[in-house]
Amino acid sequence: MTLEKTPKESFVISTEMVLPNDTNPLHNLMGGRLLHLMDVVAAISAQKHSNRIVVTASVDNVSFKHSPKLGDAITLEAHVTRAFNSSMEVFIRVWSENIPDGSKIETNQAFFTFVAVDQSGRPIMVPKIKPETNIEKKLYEEALQRREVRLMMAGRMKPKDATSLHSIFETIKEVKSE
Ligand SMILES: CC(C)(COP(=O)(O)OP(=O)(O)OC[C@H]1O[C@@H](n2cnc3c(N)ncnc32)[C@H](O)[C@@H]1OP(=O)(O)O)[C@@H](O)C(=O)NCCC(=O)NCCS
Repeated sequence: MTLEKTPKESFVISTEMVLPNDTNPLHNLMGGRLLHLMDVVAAISAQKHSNRIVVTASVDNVSFKHSPKLGDAITLEAHVTRAFNSSMEVFIRVWSENIPDGSKIETNQAFFTFVAVDQSGRPIMVPKIKPETNIEKKLYEEALQRREVRLMMAGRMKPKDATSLHSIFETIKEVKSE
């Protein structure tokens, strides 16, 4: 197994058109349909990183800032920000484009967590991530705190074990007492 891979190696981009069957009565893309597209693109990204079957373990920080409209072209871009043991965090961004109008806006962002599994569905180790650009490094550093928050929310980590979050509060305490 490759020991380290860059975020670029898991980069996936996909463009779809919003069709009538994807929309609500206001002709806006249904949230569930968008989540499905995001899940597929993010899963392909996690597969590219791990070269394994992956399962969705959690979806967090999904923001719906604007609604893609009927006939818009939506572009989804995903890459792995950080890999832990068997799990990988994928950052996905979505843009909606009205091509005749020449307008393009970012509509959504989310973090998905996938777990690489073997043929029996058991978690299996994945390569680490080696971030290269400044934004990749920032996403990589912050991924540890996001992991602790999501594992605590899922009841899988005790607050006392969230050491990277403790360090933030320790720093705040130190700044306040100066
Ligand atoms: C995700 C799953 C494989 C975890 O299996 P498990 O037996 O609990 O395994 P572990 O406790 O060893 O955890 C494995 C990894 O999953 C991560 N994980 C488990 N639940 C998680 C959650 N809710 N959020 C984020 N990560 C989670 C763990 O942190 C661990 O990561 P690490 O190996 O990088 O440290 C298992 O719960 C599962 O198969 N769930 C169903 C997935 C599914 O059906 N998805 C939708 C269709 S693809």
